[in-house]
Amino acid sequence: MFKKLVLGAALAFAPVAAIAAGGGEQHIEDFAFSFEGPFGTFDQNQLQRGLQIYTEVCAACHGLQYVPLRTLSDEDGPGIPEDQVRAYAADNFSVYDEELEDDRPAIPSDHFPAVTALGAPDLSLMAKARAGFHGPYGLGINQLVKGMGGAEYIASLLSGYTGKEKEEAGTILYENTAFPGGWISMAPPLSDEQVEFIDGHANDVVSMSEDVSAFLMWTAEPKMMARKQAGFVGVLFLTLLSVLLYLTNKRLWAPVKGKKKA
Ligand code: HEC
Repeated sequence: MFKKLVLGAALAFAPVAAIAAGGGEQHIEDFAFSFEGPFGTFDQNQLQRGLQIYTEVCAACHGLQYVPLRTLSDEDGPGIPEDQVRAYAADNFSVYDEELEDDRPAIPSDHFPAVTALGAPDLSLMAKARAGFHGPYGLGINQLVKGMGGAEYIASLLSGYTGKEKEEAGTILYENTAFPGGWISMAPPLSDEQVEFIDGHANDVVSMSEDVSAFLMWTAEPKMMARKQAGFVGVLFLTLLSVLLYLTNKRLWAPVKGKKKA
């Protein structure tokens, strides 16, 4: 019986282990983001730096087509004043207007444009579409402890270039320690001191990777803080309800239990 069980278990896990092994050695750094944990919140300054990096670097290839520009003034998000969002939209993006039958500068009610020309995926939901932590054996148990790790994955990807390149079927591939399979067709997008911040914040590759990943976590889950708050209130309410039910139960059965003792 025992032998059968062990054999069964081994057979059940074998394909999973094979898939995990086939994915290449992925290294995901466990960055400490401010929004982790049940009470974690977005760091507004970090989101603003991330937006700047996205605008100056990533927007050339990647769209954010599901994100309305007006949400940049959300209090729980980057919290940029509305007049600045208006100026930002007009200065950086133009959209095709069907009524004008022409391009016009973007306004806050528009979305970030989609960029489809270069084969680069849209980044709006990327932080939720990718997971940083899988194991052991692809079972995802690590995610219970460390979280899904979408932002960690993006930050590790951006800072995980080894500097090696190879050409395959006319495409240049870059070695990356976080990308599944180890070779990605995106050239290293960030280099030290590429983006200057007004407050003089650190602008090495690793800290810029963290900033833009935090920003992409916000685009993928803009209501994270409201969700956590609602969850906390829910748990508090259920705890209170449990206490009340316990006391009611005691009270209800008190006459019966009391008699037995006497
Ligand atoms: C020169 C164009 C270019 C720029 C600039 C660029 N990317 Fe990319 N990116 C790509 C391409 C092309 C891919 C698809 C790579 C692949 O699948 O091999 C990609 C893929 C990605 C992916 C998905 C990886 C995956 O798991 O599939 C992420 C995340 C990403 N880029 C983030 C960024 C961020 C953040 C920036 C700005 C700091 C940036 N990229 C700048 C071209 C670019």
